[in-house]
Amino acid sequence: MNEPVTPEWLYLSRRRFIKGLAALGVVAGSTPLAYAADNLSDEITPFEKASAYNNFYEFSLGKTEPADLAKGFVTSPWRVAVGGLVAKPATFDMKEILARFPQRDRVYRLRCVEAWSMVIPWRGFPLAALLDEVKPAPEAKFVRFETAVVPKQMPGVRAGNLPFPYVEGLRIDEARHPLAILATGMYGKPLPPQNGAPIRLVVPWKYGFKSIKSVVKIDLVAEQPRTTWQAQNPAEYGFYANVNPTVDHPRWSQASERRIGEWLRRKTLPFNGYMEVASLYKGMDLTKNF
Ligand code: MTE
Repeated sequence: MNEPVTPEWLYLSRRRFIKGLAALGVVAGSTPLAYAADNLSDEITPFEKASAYNNFYEFSLGKTEPADLAKGFVTSPWRVAVGGLVAKPATFDMKEILARFPQRDRVYRLRCVEAWSMVIPWRGFPLAALLDEVKPAPEAKFVRFETAVVPKQMPGVRAGNLPFPYVEGLRIDEARHPLAILATGMYGKPLPPQNGAPIRLVVPWKYGFKSIKSVVKIDLVAEQPRTTWQAQNPAEYGFYANVNPTVDHPRWSQASERRIGEWLRRKTLPFNGYMEVASLYKGMDLTKNF
């Protein structure tokens, strides 16, 4: 069978991006493919790489093992409980999430704190849309996320690779930023288990560990949540974890990165290149709030 020249997700993301620009009155006619997805000209990492080199400690400490070990992970039925300081707490079934929130394609860079990176076409929806649904109370200042803990299916949980559940958090204004999405798919297909099926956070301007996988619980809270990596080693992993080439990890430089599939290292960009988020941190010392 012939492959279509442009994969559907790429075609759709280009069409949507052009539509978006047209709506803003920015463009008429053709947009270079390089700008197809969120202005990203970087080459997309092949699916075979993005789905075979993973960090998912619930399954393994290794990067090539999760793909195998997560193969049978049961992701249906799946529910996400959203509560805490909200007027309308709700538990959403995945089917409901897919039906209620229009899914869009977004190509983002993913920069791991370990100094490797990829470019992944996600499919998902703004986290803000889900938050709007539950109506956060004025006292809600942070959002706390939890991954599923299924010892029977997760060898890394049985081995105690980390204290589980894996917990992550965002300040509420970060969570509401349009770049922060809940992804349900990648490369135009549902997420593979090793990439965080059936639903995971993607916050492209932060180190990859903030993008918590296989989410089952989201709470709006008043205090900054204690997150897994921060609790594990506060000197090495901050709560904010914004990609920052000028603040090195105590054990390695963050000035450059290895793009999976490339030979030469490339410079790491502040906020991973997503400068539009800089205003969220106005007046903050990002060397202290690392
Ligand atoms: N989420 C959970 N629940 N467990 C994890 O071990 N690893 C994080 C993040 N989310 C992790 C997680 C890290 S360190 C990275 S770099 C990304 O997932 C990797 O996402 P990917 O495998 O889709 O590239």
